[in-house]
Amino acid sequence: MSYQPQDFYFRKAKSEGYAARSVYKLKAIDEKYQLLRKGMQIVDLGAAPGSWTQYIMQRVGQSGKILAIDIEPLAWRPPEWVRFERSDVFSSEVESLIEGKGWDGIVSDMAPRTTGVRITDHTRSAELVWRSLTLARKGLRTGGFWIAKLLEGPTLSALRQEARTSFARVEIYRPPATRIGSTECFLIGLSFQP
Ligand SMILES: C[S@@+](CC[C@H](N)C(=O)[O-])C[C@H]1O[C@@H](n2cnc3c(N)ncnc32)[C@H](O)[C@@H]1O
Repeated sequence: MSYQPQDFYFRKAKSEGYAARSVYKLKAIDEKYQLLRKGMQIVDLGAAPGSWTQYIMQRVGQSGKILAIDIEPLAWRPPEWVRFERSDVFSSEVESLIEGKGWDGIVSDMAPRTTGVRITDHTRSAELVWRSLTLARKGLRTGGFWIAKLLEGPTLSALRQEARTSFARVEIYRPPATRIGSTECFLIGLSFQP
């Protein structure tokens, strides 16, 4: 039987009390780029079932601030200092919650409902990345960071080029917890320059 890393990360998430195995992708990004610190103010787009929010809570602590957004509910009840909004990121309500607030980081693990048709999934995923980039440009403080998941495809280099006009550095990273055969990668924008 071949080695199945998804089983490893799934079991690890369960035993460590996280809502999903995807937490280890954010953890790997954070450890590699040293992004999250106590007291930071972070927006988590596509937060449900909530493992990234759980990790961000541990990293920023109660002196920080978290706004988590998803069209689906979280799998657990957040404490008072974490705001969860059940909304679509394309709504004007979400925009006004984020705009002009000087967030330290805006992260997106959003994914479309996949169809199995690679180009369709990529195009929908790219729309979510564009939206997260637009929100990052409206809401980040100077020097802030942006993370966005993309199902890879032909738009990747254009997205990276576009992000480069707003960040001092834009990296593409595939965390070890990414499932074998998955096309996903993460765009990471460092040091936002309005
Ligand atoms: C892979 S899951 C996120 C997992 C989450 N980061 C965690 O660790 O628990 C992707 C999420 O993106 C959300 N999503 C997709 N499109 C969205 C949209 N337009 N607005 C808000 N959330 C969206 C989905 O509802 C789904 O919960």
